Amino acid sequence: MRIPTDEEILALHSKHAPTPGALDLVYTHCVIVGTLAEQLCSRPGPGLGVDADLVRAGSLLHDIGVYRLYDDAGNLDHAGYIRHGVLGYELLRAEGLPEAIARFASHHIGVGITRADVLAQHLPIPPDDYLAETGEERLVMYADNFHSKTTPPVFRTASACAARLRRFGEDKVRAFQAMRDTFGEPDLAALSEAYGHAVIDEPDLTVPDRSEGDPTSGRRAAMLLIVTEDGGLLMHHRDDKPGIPNPGCWAGFGGAVEAGETVEEAVRREVREETGLPIADPIFLTEAVDHEGDGRAVSLFYIVGGVRPEDIDLQEGAGVAVHRVEDLPGLQVTPFVRRAIYSHLLPIIAGRPGGPNGRG
Ligand SMILES: [Fe+2]
Repeated sequence: MRIPTDEEILALHSKHAPTPGALDLVYTHCVIVGTLAEQLCSRPGPGLGVDADLVRAGSLLHDIGVYRLYDDAGNLDHAGYIRHGVLGYELLRAEGLPEAIARFASHHIGVGITRADVLAQHLPIPPDDYLAETGEERLVMYADNFHSKTTPPVFRTASACAARLRRFGEDKVRAFQAMRDTFGEPDLAALSEAYGHAVIDEPDLTVPDRSEGDPTSGRRAAMLLIVTEDGGLLMHHRDDKPGIPNPGCWAGFGGAVEAGETVEEAVRREVREETGLPIADPIFLTEAVDHEGDGRAVSLFYIVGGVRPEDIDLQEGAGVAVHRVEDLPGLQVTPFVRRAIYSHLLPIIAGRPGGPNGRG
């Protein structure tokens, strides 16, 4: 099999990128994934037995299908984003590249997508297994987890990757851990400095397997952060009572996950109980640990718009208010909530149309 050269690959990117901005975003990410993969497979010690040239080409081409998700106005189809894998495969096959190269596009997402995942989550791709099979595919898939094309792009540590994968299930966290055991962890510091992309670290919430039947819900909570249409935060003021975690602090709406509930069900129920409002589609933001409070693991979600303070019929807590992002430093915010807002929510607010980095 002839492996395309870096020049040929860049020419393919240039040919299919709809805008210079898309080319910069996607190609830079691909180069970073290639550098991470190269770093992981060139470590001293027993070789991983992967073909470094194939890894390089696979890394540089894995996300080429993203270009097919831009509409004529230059907007990316975020909702159908997962399609970029199969679209990339089709693009590469149409360009005459061999199956073994094209598979890096269709078989690199997350830690692998199964037919059952496609069906259960109603993913907009043909039901099939999209799992990394070769060592090269596994390495590109693994390396891809450590860098995200968010606005702004970021690196994630291995523990932050594991925390992020948890929303897709414990089996995904285990699959990631298996790759982590094989390939080790990349050194992100030099790349972070070279590209100016921050490193996001989060505690690894991998809970050791407990005895059967324990739903682990006693130690879990869910919280909703509400972004207003104009980019403020509609927050919940906690009671200032001794004995409760983070008294008198501002936070989102939420509470403990009950036995048998998913975190999404918990966040909907808690918000309804506290505010009287139904929340249709909370978007997962991140996992956090309330280190300064009761030590619980908290799944944070957010929504944008649709809720005004006057709509809220508050049943718990001291009050609600909309706070401007620039007022957060002077506000008493629950520490883990503040960390989640700064690391995860503000980049999203900044990237919205009308935000400082908005592309819309
Ligand atoms: Fe991708």
